[in-house]
Amino acid sequence: MTARRGAALSGTVTVPGDKSISHRALMFGLLAVGETRITGLLEGEDVINTAKVCRALGATVERLGPGEWLVRGVGVGGLKQPAEPLDFGNSGTGCRLMMGVVGAHPIRATFDGDASLRKRPMRRALDPLELFGLTVVAQGEGGRLPITVEGPKDAVPVVYESPVASAQVKSAVLLAGLNAPGITTVVETEATRDHTERMLVHFGADVTVTPHGAHGRRIDLVGQPELKPAPVIVPADPSSAAFPLVAAAIVPGSDVTISGVMMNPLRTGLLATLIEMGAAIEVLNPRVESGEDVADLRVRGSHLSGVDVPAHRAPSMIDEYPVLAVAAAFAAGPTRMRGLHELRVKESDRLAAVAAGLAAAGVAHTIEGDDLIVAGDGRAPGGGTVETHMDHRIAMSFLVMGLATAEPMTVDDTGFIATSFPDFTGLMRGLGADLS
Ligand code: S3P
Repeated sequence: MTARRGAALSGTVTVPGDKSISHRALMFGLLAVGETRITGLLEGEDVINTAKVCRALGATVERLGPGEWLVRGVGVGGLKQPAEPLDFGNSGTGCRLMMGVVGAHPIRATFDGDASLRKRPMRRALDPLELFGLTVVAQGEGGRLPITVEGPKDAVPVVYESPVASAQVKSAVLLAGLNAPGITTVVETEATRDHTERMLVHFGADVTVTPHGAHGRRIDLVGQPELKPAPVIVPADPSSAAFPLVAAAIVPGSDVTISGVMMNPLRTGLLATLIEMGAAIEVLNPRVESGEDVADLRVRGSHLSGVDVPAHRAPSMIDEYPVLAVAAAFAAGPTRMRGLHELRVKESDRLAAVAAGLAAAGVAHTIEGDDLIVAGDGRAPGGGTVETHMDHRIAMSFLVMGLATAEPMTVDDTGFIATSFPDFTGLMRGLGADLS
């Protein structure tokens, strides 16, 4: 697909439901006894794979209408032995969280995924799960998929300090802790997205969250609760909103409003950074919907300046660096993004993929250790083709870039956009983007 510079972008849009909350809503539906109704579920391929896996583990999962889903769960401790390997496609979140769901149940399951997911590290989730009593029966080299695990008959609770700032690892431990007696504790030195903790409370579990150090948290969960079904309304995904947000900021004269975007403070790092860069963004109608902060974001074409993005902000914008790098290409002066090591283990090696995309666009940049520096020297000529490496966010980021470069930008494969933002092209075209 090729993106070309054209007229200013304008209009009001709603982006799809949050991916993190959508996966979790299905999993909590599986672990509650009774009917969980979900509104606004993201119907991207990643989440659909999670829905299929919930069925394989014993839940009834029904689509009632667009974004409207009903899950009849089996309860904590009630998972069924799956007959087939569990296929998570492209989704690290689906896979690692479900390892936690399965991890303290006495069943055997095989986890698998596509070529991208088969390259990603899974030991980070398996290491703490083994402390509950999980046995890894088979795994690929270096702890890669496909992986077969067998859960313990009697799980023991765990105290775990995560060596990586990862909401997926934290969530895997907490979800396993649900089926262990006693208290399971996770300590994180950098706070990561807290949707699992919020949803545990929403479904009636006993969870305590306390500050830990300068940027961290300690989470204590009382195991073996009876989770009660609770309706979930999924807010719009800030990680998807990031694409029209940056597009409007870099295309001169644009005026775009994105409605009902989730504003959970552990997800708003990109917004804070763009505002620091001088983006003309207004946060309108802040409100609370279904336990999450949401607001409408109005963004206009902006003169951006380069900034220094501190490493401790990374967890709150971990999926947004590719599109921030695009914004930085149009800023005056250098933007330094610090501490990006986790980008190397996403759907692709995102640090390498972003650097290659910037190179294809003729944008000066360097990588120093784990930092990416975009020069911001006023040159973003475009005219290149970007390899997406099975990574939806690389594809969307460089299509956004092509809306503002002098020459068009082409991405080699848009198929993976359907994992998180199925109507990305239609929504962007509706704002006036030239995508062909
Ligand atoms: C997610 C956590 C993040 C993020 C992913 C979704 C989640 O991964 O990159 O897209 O829903 O918990 P890590 O926690 O591994 O950084």
